[in-house]
Amino acid sequence: MHAIAKAHSNVALVKYFGKRDLALNLPAAGSLSLTLSPLETTTQIDFSPELEEDIVQLNDKPAAKGFTLRISKFLDLIRTQSKTEFFASVKTQNNFPTSAGLASSASGFAALALASCHALKLETTTEQLSVLARRGSGSAARSICSGISVWQAGEKPDGTDSFASTILNPNDWDIALVIGISNPGPKKWGSTVAMEHTKKTSPYYDSWIKATQMDLKEAIAAVEIKDFEKLGDITERSAHAMHAATLAARPAIPYWNGTTMDAIHLVAELRQNGVQAYFTCDAGPQPKVLCKTADTPKVVTALMSLNGISKTITGSLGHGARLIL
Ligand code: PMV
Repeated sequence: MHAIAKAHSNVALVKYFGKRDLALNLPAAGSLSLTLSPLETTTQIDFSPELEEDIVQLNDKPAAKGFTLRISKFLDLIRTQSKTEFFASVKTQNNFPTSAGLASSASGFAALALASCHALKLETTTEQLSVLARRGSGSAARSICSGISVWQAGEKPDGTDSFASTILNPNDWDIALVIGISNPGPKKWGSTVAMEHTKKTSPYYDSWIKATQMDLKEAIAAVEIKDFEKLGDITERSAHAMHAATLAARPAIPYWNGTTMDAIHLVAELRQNGVQAYFTCDAGPQPKVLCKTADTPKVVTALMSLNGISKTITGSLGHGARLIL
């Protein structure tokens, strides 16, 4: 009843932002992402008949109540499936800033899904594991997979057809994502609250979902023929359209800060100077730049020249969730 699993974070190039089913975490449209090494969560779980409640540690400290409740709710799904009533001790560690728009919930729930299934001897396929991880955090569905993956929206009301799968293996393309850390504090609007608010109040929401469906098709085609420029264009337009939808929500959800805006201009300048670099950004202010691996030193130097960027983290295509013990 013990297991340790690791999973990388992932960053979407075609973003997921909107749910067709809130309870099951089913997306209104599919998305495409990069699973990123070395950004990683390691999670150890021990189920025990002696525990009277779930005990959760995050980065060596007792986790906040809300975080523990979210984990417990997720473990309830696993307990129901494996017909176990035991509580668990969960120790989870991120090697990058937590809850700052760097998808720690994606790597976290992917690692937790794998570790808890293994600990309770629940046999799952990769698809079933992705479906399960999705229940913890939508984007976690993608962290189960390696390299470049696509999470299909699916059509079934029970969500069994809404899982991610790898469309390109990690060693098959030398691409990277440089993350500029502009504010490592926790994010102001959790993604679920922001998605629901945008869905209910943004006049741009429906257009955003339609555009995402088109972008996903084009992005998959671009990955198939490794058309980096095309994938980069889609990456930028998807991020801009997502943030346009949140900015048009009432009241607006402005995730960016001044440094994010400076990064947008900087990336356009890099391109004018011959560096193929493309901006993206999630539910936080951190600018993220898609580039070829060979261009990462130039992109890092450029991002570090911005006031407000304290450090950068460079991710390359990594493997899906895996067991350590
Ligand atoms: O998985 P969640 O609920 O944390 O949502 C992720 C939302 C974005 O990061 C903004 C976009 C994405 O596709 O990862």
